[in-house]
Amino acid sequence: MPNRSDAWDLMREFVQDSGLRRHMLAVSAAMGWYANVLGGDVATWETIGLLHDFDWEIHPDLDRHPIEGAKILRERGWDEETIRVILSHYTAGTGVPREKPIDFALLACDEITGLVIATTLVRPSKNIAEVKLKSIRKKWKNSRFAAGVDRNHVEEVTADFSRECFAGSLDLWTHIGNVLTAMQGAADVLDLDGRLASPEA
Ligand SMILES: [Fe+2]
Ligand SMILES: [Fe+2]
Repeated sequence: MPNRSDAWDLMREFVQDSGLRRHMLAVSAAMGWYANVLGGDVATWETIGLLHDFDWEIHPDLDRHPIEGAKILRERGWDEETIRVILSHYTAGTGVPREKPIDFALLACDEITGLVIATTLVRPSKNIAEVKLKSIRKKWKNSRFAAGVDRNHVEEVTADFSRECFAGSLDLWTHIGNVLTAMQGAADVLDLDGRLASPEA
């Protein structure tokens, strides 16, 4: 059965854009963090995060992503459960509902990573270790900042995740704090450890 290093290779084969790679690595880190908390298999959850948008560069629209990507995964020998979870992150297009904790986690971790990354990259230091939840909260309130991050959608999918996996006790800002912590733990692979700072900064 393909594993995390196969996912890494596949992602690098299909995704050249560093931003999209970083997105998937960020979701992977958040998924691993939640696998630990929820008793999931960390490698499996990280693998799903790493793979979920692998076909976005070749299928950059929701008519094709992720449904056409799933066909490639199947051809490459990926298991049906992995493919099912990936299809569940866009139920409207695939008809595959979210059912399991890993499905709810994936969608809850997906878009919010974009706000955390953007909040880090506007800092001169480009160092996620310095990012506080309160800076993200400020950026959240500014709807023009990282406007592609649909705040209402994030609220909805976090509420679903909370209801399904935390008996309703996971509030939005605890969740965002968890995602931040997970991403801080992966700062080096995300290139968010300060290496992107310009020399004079
Ligand atoms: Fe996606
Ligand atoms: Fe995504």
